[in-house]
Amino acid sequence: MAKMDERVKEMFQKQQDVVLATASKEGIPNVVIVRAKKIIDAETILISDQYFDKTLANMKENPRAAVTVWEKTEGYQIKGTVTIETSGPRFEETARWIEDLGKKFNVSLKSKGAVILKITDIYTISPGSNAGQKIA
Ligand SMILES: Cc1cc2nc3c(=O)[nH]c(=O)nc-3n(C[C@H](O)[C@H](O)[C@H](O)COP(=O)(O)O)c2cc1C
Repeated sequence: MAKMDERVKEMFQKQQDVVLATASKEGIPNVVIVRAKKIIDAETILISDQYFDKTLANMKENPRAAVTVWEKTEGYQIKGTVTIETSGPRFEETARWIEDLGKKFNVSLKSKGAVILKITDIYTISPGSNAGQKIA
């Protein structure tokens, strides 16, 4: 496991939308944007699935995923392994959070699952001589 430091956590929280990459078991890549995301702890991210299609299919057959966060020219890749919870306290809490979010914006939103990403590696992607280096 790898831990996000305070800076990576701050950027993850501050950034409205983050990029989520998955791949099929044949290695076909897929990239989407996600907004419904939370930090559970320094090693764990939660993403709510409202609309995942290819993303969900990929995660079911290949649990490796990566999230990218950035601000101006500072950025990080957060890589890890996902599990999908569709019942239990974390899913129930996610379902309530997404339903409340929908009410706030007067749209119907429904979570189909809580994607739990356990972080295995973090890399910097900031341009410069350290670009691509593993930081955790
Ligand atoms: C700004 C923005 C925010 C989004 N946030 C989420 C999200 O939090 N959860 C989700 O399930 N889909 C979200 N989506 C939808 C996905 O990006 C994507 O459309 C969906 O996963 C279907 O693509 P796929 O077949 O590649 O999985 C968002 C899309 C945009 C443009």
